[in-house]
Amino acid sequence: MKRTRWSNQLAFILAAIGSAVGLGNIWKFPYIAGENGGGAFVLVYLVCIAAIGIPIFIAELFIGQHAQCNAVAAFEKLTSKGTPWRVSGWIGVLAAFLILSFYSVVGGWVLSFLTKGIANRFVGQPAEVVRGYMASIIGDAKASIFWHTVFMAIVIGIVIMGIKDGVERWNKVLMPGFFALLVALFVRAAFLPGFPLALTFLFAPDTSRLTAAGILEAVGHSFFTLSVGMGAIITYGSYLGEKQELPRIAFLIGLADTLVAMIAGVVIFSIVFSAGLKPEAGPTLMFQTLPVLFASMAGGYYIAVAFFLLVLFAAVTSAVSLLEVVVAYVDEHWNLNRTKGTLLVGGVIYTLGLLCATSNNLLSHVTVLGYNFFSLFDTVSSNYLLPIGGLLISLFYGWVLGKKAIRSTLGAHADSPFWLHSLLWCARILAPVGVFLVLLNSILPGGILALLGIASER
Ligand code: TRP
Repeated sequence: MKRTRWSNQLAFILAAIGSAVGLGNIWKFPYIAGENGGGAFVLVYLVCIAAIGIPIFIAELFIGQHAQCNAVAAFEKLTSKGTPWRVSGWIGVLAAFLILSFYSVVGGWVLSFLTKGIANRFVGQPAEVVRGYMASIIGDAKASIFWHTVFMAIVIGIVIMGIKDGVERWNKVLMPGFFALLVALFVRAAFLPGFPLALTFLFAPDTSRLTAAGILEAVGHSFFTLSVGMGAIITYGSYLGEKQELPRIAFLIGLADTLVAMIAGVVIFSIVFSAGLKPEAGPTLMFQTLPVLFASMAGGYYIAVAFFLLVLFAAVTSAVSLLEVVVAYVDEHWNLNRTKGTLLVGGVIYTLGLLCATSNNLLSHVTVLGYNFFSLFDTVSSNYLLPIGGLLISLFYGWVLGKKAIRSTLGAHADSPFWLHSLLWCARILAPVGVFLVLLNSILPGGILALLGIASER
């Protein structure tokens, strides 16, 4: 059976950006930065992107491109059948289930705001009214389930059509469109009174506000936002044919992803500080701020509609990559055809998502370890499964595939000792040890300092 291939390099890069840029950038990053006190958290996040996220992105691309198969089988294909490394593939499959189930609920919120935009429910409305929309959706089980259903149906439909016809065509227009609109909003935000405060909040590190949990969240989010740690990039890389400059691609995608997150953060916090709101509003932050800006902006009606349409698209292209990991596995492992496989996997994820859609209404009294289902799935997958998966992937790449693989990744730059040693060092030591220490630090009461006998003052 012949495997699908991306039509060309641009199509691949856009698809990978489509996977990376999503709700993680525009919804999750601002709200967790707000909850964790801003600057210092952002700094840790940026360091993680550069030193851990991008090297793992390169590792995943390499593994996928060389194995030419799904993310679980890839580890066997590159070593031997039954290798314990395939556990990282399974962790990835589990993470995909959990992430997509809450992601789809947030995608549903976006859909619901899109219809509100179309129905002209923002322009000219008082800020309190606009801000109240979010609470009414979250509190309403029927609405949450309905929009989750629509979002999941769209994602399943696209994955059935196949990654190529489904994703490639739209990506070329809509991803650049999304970026352009974001830049326009940034320019508008620069004229808001809260703009300087937003810059200070996000870019002036105040280490006193950083906790062990915050550092873990920053590490976890650097994985989440780049789509690494669970085989999504292995899967996308496996549809790559001929040689590519993987480090350059990874760097480009890391840069684009970070830019989107930073711009979204500045826009959202400019609104927060202009209106005297609290930065730590939580998961509703984006939905309580941007519509308020649209409500008072020239051309607000069109901007609101375009914005939610483009965010929806960004969310869909990310969700597609999550579902694709599992579908590629089911497809190749159980020999299920694509349609059946997608319906089966999508159906299970949809059902799990019902727990998330109702976790702020019908099931709001149900908590596990102090979390409702929505935050449980998010925390377990982003803060634990992705970092652990990424740790394994980087060890596999750095030590098992080793120097030879890294040389071959670097292609024309393989003779440069600088690049060779940087990548080798990141993959072998920095990424795995860094992730390990952060996990340890967050598990130990009092952090690593307490373990070393140094009193921690947190
Ligand atoms: N990166 C996407 C975002 O920021 C979410 C996502 C897509 C993802 N595929 C993934 C996260 C794979 C982790 C793993 O919205």
